[in-house]
Amino acid sequence: MHLTKEEERIYKGEEGWTKKKAMEILVAIGDINHASGLIPIKSAHISGVSYKTIGEAFEFVNRLEGTVEVESTLNPIGMDIEKWTEMGISEAFADKQKEVLAAYKKLGISAECTCVPYLIGHAPKKGEHLAWAESSAVLYANSVLGARTNMEGAPSALAAALIGKTPFYGLHQLENRKPEIRVCVKCALTNADYSALGFLIGDLVGDKIPLIELFSSSASSPPGKDELKHLAAAIGATGSVGMYHIKGITPGAEEMESKLSGEKIEIEESDLEEFYTANNEPDVIAIGCPHCSSAEIRRIYELLKTEGKGRKVKKDFFIFTARALMQSVQTQRIVEKIENYGVKVICDTCFVVSPAFENYDCVLTNSGKMLRYVPLLCGGAKARLCGTEECVRAAF
Ligand code: F3S
Repeated sequence: MHLTKEEERIYKGEEGWTKKKAMEILVAIGDINHASGLIPIKSAHISGVSYKTIGEAFEFVNRLEGTVEVESTLNPIGMDIEKWTEMGISEAFADKQKEVLAAYKKLGISAECTCVPYLIGHAPKKGEHLAWAESSAVLYANSVLGARTNMEGAPSALAAALIGKTPFYGLHQLENRKPEIRVCVKCALTNADYSALGFLIGDLVGDKIPLIELFSSSASSPPGKDELKHLAAAIGATGSVGMYHIKGITPGAEEMESKLSGEKIEIEESDLEEFYTANNEPDVIAIGCPHCSSAEIRRIYELLKTEGKGRKVKKDFFIFTARALMQSVQTQRIVEKIENYGVKVICDTCFVVSPAFENYDCVLTNSGKMLRYVPLLCGGAKARLCGTEECVRAAF
């Protein structure tokens, strides 16, 4: 990979050990992927920051010095930074998690700890180059916002943040963003159907970029931001592709369609129905993977009012969100009102990356990503998919 004179100097260590290490990571990735060089990025989003997943590897981050070169954000950590005792997190875990967080903050990285940075003032613009980790956010940035990022890992996103550049290959190049397979959806979709659809598409397309044609009729409305967020998260959970196109939504999708030939798959209503047939009895309800938007929090509150009629929930029920989004609904004291029903609103973390949720047998959720990750990362629990409304109804 070609390096400029200044990049060479960094690579040789003339700007210190931290930048040298960061540049070594970028060069190794660039060389493997035949990148022509490095390009400046607008922002970085760094994953793998829960102590549950990073463990002692954070000591490497602790040794880094200086500050990041671009706006940089963090994925959820392993606990709510204010309510961790309520969550049953041990002091030993909390101390380690605080150390991890401090190591990143010291580098100038924003400690908002969410997988939806694009909902809290860090939305990239069309055409901007990024180095984002967290598959759901990568797919959303590429496919809904038209930004350009590869699916970074935690080390490469951090290295890019420290240098302010990333290797120029993959989804940064227009020619690699062409759709490779057409997916025709033959039925109208609502709510968790987008999670089911994403799960299925990720499974079917593997690493081929899909061009998704949604069913259109006067009775069906186009997906909103939250549906697209769930679609992105589920595709990222089961597939290894970094973007999708949807006609009418993804910037430039119509132009890209002319480059598509060959393979086509069709998805019928019956394909999605299979996702709703599990018969395990849930002992917990979790919504907020990816983190709930303020609109979703408000909707859950409305549903609690309708379904609860003043009663408290009979099952553990958690809502996960970003602290800024939680605060945005607090003008109407919605969090207190939700918690009056016995539901817990948790920030900075989520069901999957926190060790606090490993004692359940079956979780009911509207998230396709949780459907994939709960069985793998949450003490062997099962996950069941249903719409938000059914999730709330099942709580009473
Ligand atoms: Fe976010 Fe955790 Fe889901 S990081 S996408 S809420 S697994």
